[in-house]
Amino acid sequence: MENVQLLLGQTLSYHGDPFHMPVEDACRYERRGAVLIENGIIAAVGMADKLRSDYPQAQITDYGDGLITAGFIDAHAHYPQTAIISSWGKRLIDWLNTYTFPEEMRFDDPAYGAEIADRYLDLTAANGTTTIASFCTIHPASVDALFSAAASRNMRIVAGKTCMDRNAPDGLRDTAKSAYDDSSTLLEKWHDRGRASYAITPRFSPTSSPEQLEALGALWVKHPDCLMQTHLSEQLDEIEWVAELFPEARDYLDTYEQFGLLGERAMFGHAIHLKARERDRLREVNAALIHCPTSNTFIGSGLFDIGGLMALGHRIGLATDTGGGSSFSMLRTMAAAYEIGQLTGTSLHPAQLYWLATVGSARALHLDNRIGNLAVGHEADLVVLNLTSTPAIAQREARAEDLWQSLFPTIMMGDDRAITATWINGTARP
Ligand code: GUN
Ligand code: ZN
Repeated sequence: MENVQLLLGQTLSYHGDPFHMPVEDACRYERRGAVLIENGIIAAVGMADKLRSDYPQAQITDYGDGLITAGFIDAHAHYPQTAIISSWGKRLIDWLNTYTFPEEMRFDDPAYGAEIADRYLDLTAANGTTTIASFCTIHPASVDALFSAAASRNMRIVAGKTCMDRNAPDGLRDTAKSAYDDSSTLLEKWHDRGRASYAITPRFSPTSSPEQLEALGALWVKHPDCLMQTHLSEQLDEIEWVAELFPEARDYLDTYEQFGLLGERAMFGHAIHLKARERDRLREVNAALIHCPTSNTFIGSGLFDIGGLMALGHRIGLATDTGGGSSFSMLRTMAAAYEIGQLTGTSLHPAQLYWLATVGSARALHLDNRIGNLAVGHEADLVVLNLTSTPAIAQREARAEDLWQSLFPTIMMGDDRAITATWINGTARP
């Protein structure tokens, strides 16, 4: 028998992009809305009364004043850094050497990788996140651990083996050949298996030799439907270091571009300090830039120009960058994006913040035909928010005159207490 579920609550979905059209035209909001799910897929979105009478056989879950939306999509994270999140006082290169690399060495032990993958997916689901694009470590078992943990939850996931063959400690380096071979084996094993997608993952140019970047470029040519994820222009010291390591390159982006690691399915984390050529070229090929606002403030990297880049038409997703980012919560991440917008002359509307964390990230992952919106035919990955989850938020929400005033206090002050339920593939997480 078919599994038909009807969720009742307030509903928010998108018909268009609120960065490029009026918010009222981009969004659809129902005060008493409903989402119908059939066998894990959204079958209808509409008014509660109408869907109740159209589908009398559906099993009803009534969330009252809860706000039902697509689940959050974290477009750039490092699940192996779960246990070192919020480590004090370092900037990028120092932070990698002091905290990150020693922790990533521990993934030499597959049991540790499995433990952290489980912990990480529990923490993110508790925060309403339903899909993540994550880096793993150099160890193939770390990739198996995350894909297996996601598969056991029916989660849509993007991940790849982090490749690095220089400027990393002993025990945390692969080679150009082993990076190619291991990535190739993992890709064959996991790409398009269930809800998994493989992303070819050079960590960043400083930790990959030209030979390794070339090998991964060649792998991408063989598997053009895979994503490619890496880092770009996060800190000024890093950019200087890249210029020393690649004296022939025109700029940081060129260290990827010359090896075939630039294309529409590329996702560049951070992309803060872009030169005009880089910005124009990224736009031309329509590659994704991933905004990591809590990380950019926490590690002291700089201010991503979201207003300027959106106006130029860039493809932009939003991400925690766990554990350079200081939170697992995409609500907290939206709040940080708002604050960085304020510092760069763009007051992001709540509709824009929420779009970035759902549709925008789905577009960055080229999965916007399947996830990221309450849309018929989309996979039923949902979050239900309590818009009065703490006394401070509730007293602020009590004065709201519309959805945006009602939602914004939760964006700015909310955390996992605001998450009433997370639905993955049509099933509410226990
Ligand atoms: N650049 C290269 N590796 C990393 C990482 O793990 N985190 C962040 N924030 N930046 C990086
Ligand atoms: Zn990162």
